[in-house]
Amino acid sequence: MLPERSYRAVSRGIECTAKITDLTYRIEPGDKTRIAGKILEQGQIAYCKLSADRAIAFAGSSGDNVLIFTDDQGAAVLGIALLHFALRRATNIVWHPTRVTKEARSSLNRQRPCVVWLTGLSGSGKSTIADLLEQELHAAGCLTYLLDGDNVRHGLCRDLGFTDVDRVENIRRVAEVAKLMIDAGLIVITSFISPFESERRMARHLIGEADFIEVYVDAPLAVCEARDPKGLYKKARAGHLKNFTGIDSDYEAPQNAELTLPTVECAPEVLANEVVDYLQNHLFIN
Ligand code: ADX
Repeated sequence: MLPERSYRAVSRGIECTAKITDLTYRIEPGDKTRIAGKILEQGQIAYCKLSADRAIAFAGSSGDNVLIFTDDQGAAVLGIALLHFALRRATNIVWHPTRVTKEARSSLNRQRPCVVWLTGLSGSGKSTIADLLEQELHAAGCLTYLLDGDNVRHGLCRDLGFTDVDRVENIRRVAEVAKLMIDAGLIVITSFISPFESERRMARHLIGEADFIEVYVDAPLAVCEARDPKGLYKKARAGHLKNFTGIDSDYEAPQNAELTLPTVECAPEVLANEVVDYLQNHLFIN
């Protein structure tokens, strides 16, 4: 259970999507001592703050205060939360509707805003393709913005490292920023390893299926390692860099990407063109 990761949850037969926003402390089952913890492994207990995407009715200690976390199909129970009290944090905040809408903004730009979400191993070619793609779109008169992992980690995400928890938060922030940029009418290109299926799915839901184009920049680990443009694989293999994707941190290849770009067989220019073709064929651009 990783903080900020969205899970399917059920309370009194009502489904929602819920997540831990703060894991305050873990509780030792025996002597109930409080210990610091960032994630929850199987069998562990913690005091947490939760957030759900809809209101949940519950009564303090009457027994009707259980939220059950399940897998995506609702087939297996992943965890059980006993709800103690509601946080008041967000209760007095109401969405303020504004007159100039996403549709109004994008109609000025002669393009349909979307996110081209590039995912792949470090060294797979994401940044190169993203840069070429943005150049092509810009030359064709499109309004674009490129969010690149290495760059975003210099500012917005400079407080984050590469643990699973930090990667979840990195992608959450990027998805929120991309959503704002879509609302501004832009064609957004994101270039992040984004190694976990769960956060890519979260980004897709947040942005909306119709506006989200997942692009798998596909190169085998051995090829990325041989390229090693920043010398990071070498450092990771030597044990000087922990949690490196593909070495001692997972990469979950997409199963249902809208496009797969094989960077071993094709030049980046050809692959960037394939994305442009996709955007044309699906009427995002003329
Ligand atoms: S993500 O996993 O959270 O999506 P992101 O795309 O922002 O990663 O950052 C990846 C970039 O950070 C890589 O291109 C690489 O240059 C650099 N980097 C530094 N340390 C690591 C690491 N442990 N694992 C992966 N990339 C790393």
